[in-house]
Amino acid sequence: MFWSPYKSIPAKLEKVIDETSNIKTFVLRPESKFRFATGQFIELSIPGVGEAPFTPSSSPYETDTIDVTIMKAGNLTGQLHALKGGETLGIRGPYGTGYPIEKFYGKEVLILGGGVGMAPLRSLLLTLIAQKEKFKRIILCYGSKSPEDVVYKHQFTEWQKIKELEIMRSVDKCPIGQWDETVGLVTCLLDQVKVDLKNTVSIVCGPPIMMKFGSRKLLDIGYTHSNIYLSMEGNMSCGIGKCGHCQIGHNFICKDGPVFTYEQLKHIPDPFI
Ligand SMILES: Cc1cc2nc3c(=O)[nH]c(=O)nc-3n(C[C@H](O)[C@H](O)[C@H](O)COP(=O)(O)OP(=O)(O)OC[C@H]3O[C@@H](n4cnc5c(N)ncnc54)[C@H](O)[C@@H]3O)c2cc1C
Ligand code: FES
Repeated sequence: MFWSPYKSIPAKLEKVIDETSNIKTFVLRPESKFRFATGQFIELSIPGVGEAPFTPSSSPYETDTIDVTIMKAGNLTGQLHALKGGETLGIRGPYGTGYPIEKFYGKEVLILGGGVGMAPLRSLLLTLIAQKEKFKRIILCYGSKSPEDVVYKHQFTEWQKIKELEIMRSVDKCPIGQWDETVGLVTCLLDQVKVDLKNTVSIVCGPPIMMKFGSRKLLDIGYTHSNIYLSMEGNMSCGIGKCGHCQIGHNFICKDGPVFTYEQLKHIPDPFI
């Protein structure tokens, strides 16, 4: 039969979980097992409406269902947010490069996430937790605008019970008495962590402004360019390196990324736009 890289496979929308007022997690059951490496992305479509790229937020070890955590941003995401479950959507992929997990073995892994940027990082975290003995430390610094904007609230409660996991969270602002963790920008959490700079990597995902200042802060602390990993987003169309929409410097986000090291992007004047 004719094979096309643009062809989607049907996936039933099994469940929709409200995360915040504008973020939902969609649990999809593809008609056949779906495999991806953590950090890779998929193109998710509503038939007759359109498609957009998203990074699965579930564990890559789960192949029967796939979670995608989506912030309402425009047309397609708005229509996705109106779905209740039971509908058939399309997925194609996975595309791009995932996180190079084996390079993290034996290291202190510092994850820095903001807002819905926690989506790929949740998939990464679940991957690290599944083999936690292979890492020296796993540290998660997560920031959101307010306590209401924290995603995966119930899962955080579970993660906080895992002794190998160090979790620090911040909110930008909050009325007194409603948050007993850090108040401030997520980068201020980095002042509270002491890492072994000779043996650490950091993985960053969040809104562009947070990626920019998060990377700067990591560099100030002493992280090397090649030990900072960034999950990039950008305008995409084909998702397979053909149309050029996602070009950033010499790289295509869809084909060469979405995971890049800071080293790969440092020559681009402002990669975080
Ligand atoms: C590799 C990759 C992975 C991604 N992973 C995720 C993920 O896991 N979760 C996630 O939530 N997102 C993710 N994204 C972003 C996601 O793809 C976009 O949010 C999505 O494509 C938006 O599609 P849309 O049709 O809803 O928005 P569009 O309609 O295309 O709108 C896009 C932009 O235009 C603005 N806009 C839309 N309508 C209006 C209007 N009327 N007036 C003014 N401005 C407007 C929106 O604010 C938005 O910024 C990822 C992107 C990439 C490239
Ligand atoms: S989206 Fe077409 S080249 Fe990357």
